Amino acid sequence: MTTKTITFTSTFAKDVTQGLTSFPKTLSSKYFYDKKGDALFQDIMAMPTYYLTNSEHEIISSQKEAISNYFKGSNGFDLIELGAGDGKKTKVLLNYLTQENIDFTYLPIDISQNVLDGLKKSVEEEIPGIDIKPQQGTYFEVLDDLVHYNTRKKVIMVLGSNIGNLLHPMAIEFLANIRKGMNANDLLFMGFDQKKNPQTILDAYNDKEGITAAFNKNVLHRINHEMDANFDVDQFLHWEVYDPETGTAKSYLVSKKEQQVYINALELEVNFKAWETIHTEISQKYDDAIVSWLASEAGLQIVDQFIDSKGYYKNYLFEKK
Ligand code: AVJ
Repeated sequence: MTTKTITFTSTFAKDVTQGLTSFPKTLSSKYFYDKKGDALFQDIMAMPTYYLTNSEHEIISSQKEAISNYFKGSNGFDLIELGAGDGKKTKVLLNYLTQENIDFTYLPIDISQNVLDGLKKSVEEEIPGIDIKPQQGTYFEVLDDLVHYNTRKKVIMVLGSNIGNLLHPMAIEFLANIRKGMNANDLLFMGFDQKKNPQTILDAYNDKEGITAAFNKNVLHRINHEMDANFDVDQFLHWEVYDPETGTAKSYLVSKKEQQVYINALELEVNFKAWETIHTEISQKYDDAIVSWLASEAGLQIVDQFIDSKGYYKNYLFEKK
């Protein structure tokens, strides 16, 4: 018997192979985000039905004073943001801190130097006098470095309920990794989308315009372009489910018919039965009990929390237990 040995050229290639040869099939949502995926996510954030952005924006705008009071340090502080994106919500806070003459340095972390360059330019234009030091790398490379050479208070910030893409065990690992970079006085400020009317959640992930569908399907376009594959993307359906018991929203791509796809770069043939699924994303919804359990498992505890007027979304402050 012979087995085919392929040396994978990227973790993307490896993950696609694993995901599409598993049963049931999966592809990770972390691969939604190429240039087109980034733009689609911007469009999602602008949709009124995607309430997360407005809710978090409202929390930061209306409670910036209370939030900033926790951030302040006797010797100033470093504001370290994981996954800054376009920084629209962050800039509200940066503006306020700067206006109030609070001593801080803003350290946005991102994998993409391109994103960081764009962010630095727009932050410096909009908020003159700000001290911004972008850090290129993965979250944990950079956090690891920072813990060694930083001496003043750190506030680590993760907005957008990005943690929701992780199943609970992975979310705990993520939080525990952040904790490793924290000292006794340091804080973690993080957004968690809350359980709510299930219809509101479904509407956020299943817009009539089909923007979320295009976002979900973008992973197939990426495989087509980057791995020379022939997915007929229109023959897949975007499908969203939400389980109000667990608080888990799940996205699928469902094959509308029996079909065969060939991925040249992987030398991989993938067969779909009619209505077979590819699970692509989870967007976990939380309540206080789950958040405090996750935190506690990771060695953290809740210091305070901030909620929007609709009660849709919360930002929590954590410290080391
Ligand atoms: C960026 C992970 C927070 O899960 O709500 C938006 C991504 N997916 N619409 C989310 C997303 C579909 C988003 N996060």
